[in-house]
Amino acid sequence: MKFITVSFTILLQFVLLVSSSLQAQSGEEIFKLKCSPCHTIGKGKLVGPDLSGVTKRREEAWLMKFIKSSQTVVNSGDENAKKIFEEFNKVVMPDPGLSDPEIKKVLTYIESQGGSVVSETIVSKIRPLSEATPDNYEKGKKLFSGELRLVNDGAPCVSCHNIPEVTALGGGNLALDLTHSFSKLSEGGLTNIIQTQPFPVMNMAFVNNPITDEEVFDIAAYLKGVDAANQNVQQTNQPINFLYSGIGGLFLLLFVFGGLWHNRRKRSVNFEIYKRQEDYIRKNS
Ligand code: HEC
Ligand code: HEC
Repeated sequence: MKFITVSFTILLQFVLLVSSSLQAQSGEEIFKLKCSPCHTIGKGKLVGPDLSGVTKRREEAWLMKFIKSSQTVVNSGDENAKKIFEEFNKVVMPDPGLSDPEIKKVLTYIESQGGSVVSETIVSKIRPLSEATPDNYEKGKKLFSGELRLVNDGAPCVSCHNIPEVTALGGGNLALDLTHSFSKLSEGGLTNIIQTQPFPVMNMAFVNNPITDEEVFDIAAYLKGVDAANQNVQQTNQPINFLYSGIGGLFLLLFVFGGLWHNRRKRSVNFEIYKRQEDYIRKNS
């Protein structure tokens, strides 16, 4: 019971933190912070579609619903939502935690950017992966697995993500298998996601422990290599329910922030803990 109270308090603090950091922001600021990791307006598709002219293509009511919680609309059986979700390789657009007036502001901003469509793919701020050497790949692999510490002490990717070759003993199952993230997200999308962490649970792990540009480069170089080396291997886990991942991540981070992180071992603390939490949630729901 105490545990639930504690986690609820933390959840509340998180919600407050997120909402207060958005106070009185303009549509442009919100767009930059919450949408630009995955969308451009007129510069081509990135992780998600180019939003140029989207306010003309779609009904406002639909846009409000979709932006608020895209998976809710996809799961409701809405044909347009399902189609675009499939088209974009089933990448989950995370709920941005915005109020209706904030979403309106973003839409007004998108509309103000005009409707010209340019079909080029945006280049990310990270230098091109074609410059990567085998050293970058090796370093990225070690950073991914936690064998090498991230400079600012962020949690290693393997605590939440799986890649069979580095996690033969079972890596994180909290989030998606990243074996094919490079071809799924494209280079710009992948590096943007690692750099800006547009997913709330992932962001919590790095918001106070940012990943450096060089680390993003190394890890992305590694993921690109893994993708190429596993062209005919199936992903090992199915996308898990997003909400479930979120709750799991919260419990995980509770422990991470609780100081257990100091005792980090190579396998990292969370596999056991996460397992225990999973049982706990199952027993109590
Ligand atoms: C993590 C990446 C990501 C972030 C962040 C993100 N989106 Fe998306 N968005 C997507 C993807 C991927 C799709 C395609 C549909 C899907 O996969 O669910 C999409 C689809 C859309 C669509 C439908 C476009 C169409 O042509 O019908 C709109 C509108 C949209 N996003 C707006 C936003 C806004 C506004 C924000 C910021 C508040 C945002 N998105 C943040 C990834 C993202
Ligand atoms: C605290 C847990 C956590 C950590 C640590 C973490 N992530 Fe994530 N990540 C997530 C969650 C949750 C998502 C949302 C989608 C999902 O369920 O996989 C995500 C999504 C992603 C995606 C998009 C996947 C897709 O196909 O939509 C990529 C790429 C990614 N993470 C890369 C990384 C890398 C690289 C690292 C290490 C630098 C990392 N993540 C560390 C939790 C985490």
